[in-house]
Amino acid sequence: MTELLRTEDLSKAFGHFIAVDSVTINFTMDTLTSIIGPNGAGKTTLINLLTGSLPMDSGRIFFKGEEITKIPTNERVKRGIGRSFQIMNIFPMLTVFQNVQIPVLSLLNKSLKFFSRLDAHREVINEVERISKEVGLWDKREVLAGELSHGDQRLLEMSIAIASQPELCFLDEPTSGMNPRERVKILENIRRLSKERRTTFIIVEHDMDVVFSLSDRIVVMHRGGIIADGKPDEIKENQNVKEVYLGEELEEEII
Ligand SMILES: Nc1ncnc2c1ncn2[C@@H]1O[C@H](COP(=O)(O)OP(=O)(O)OP(=O)(O)O)[C@@H](O)[C@H]1O
Ligand SMILES: [Mg+2]
Repeated sequence: MTELLRTEDLSKAFGHFIAVDSVTINFTMDTLTSIIGPNGAGKTTLINLLTGSLPMDSGRIFFKGEEITKIPTNERVKRGIGRSFQIMNIFPMLTVFQNVQIPVLSLLNKSLKFFSRLDAHREVINEVERISKEVGLWDKREVLAGELSHGDQRLLEMSIAIASQPELCFLDEPTSGMNPRERVKILENIRRLSKERRTTFIIVEHDMDVVFSLSDRIVVMHRGGIIADGKPDEIKENQNVKEVYLGEELEEEII
């Protein structure tokens, strides 16, 4: 399987607290991976290191074989690494359309130089329309992002993340705070987009139904380290995972 991203001994401490502890991991193309673990396990911090939102203390990161350890976030985005945030990251005073337009503009910025102004404008609108329709927000394109339901705001976040056409896209708790209907919608989107768009998703998620129904691979973090890594069936049976983290929840809900 083609390797997309790989780390070597990635570490990050906040003061004396080690949030990510010497993590060596690789993510391959077209494998939908969920990162799970209890609160404070280091999941968001790991994503922050991989996307460049936080500086690491030590370790190395490679994307498609090239070292990106010291490369800033915007450059990582250009190379094909996208993300959504655990905490909402939209512009509430802008419309849905405008929110999606921003990353589309920044992506097309280069190529638009070769178009006439009118063609460039049309190109941007077409792309925003395509993405908004894909996630089911086109009908709400004129609505201010701040006035959307929570579920639609999270869909918008996802649209923003995929607008940069990432090859690898991290979604941090994409279903948090959603009702069951909204949850189904976002999961369908993740599934479909994984198939159609040549985007490989890595999601952080607490909902075990979501994790086990969606994932090809599950990585379990605990106290900054990886304690298990495998297919959903293997993780279900993993004694470490049962003891250290999921325990009863897994037995009751999944097995
Ligand atoms: N900027 C920061 N400064 C100090 N400590 C931090 C900072 N960010 C995270 N931490 C600490 O690092 C640990 C890991 O946090 P992180 O947010 O990565 O966990 P998580 O696995 O994403 O948890 P959750 O499931 O609650 O989102 C936590 O104990 C957290 O308090
Ligand atoms: Mg988190």
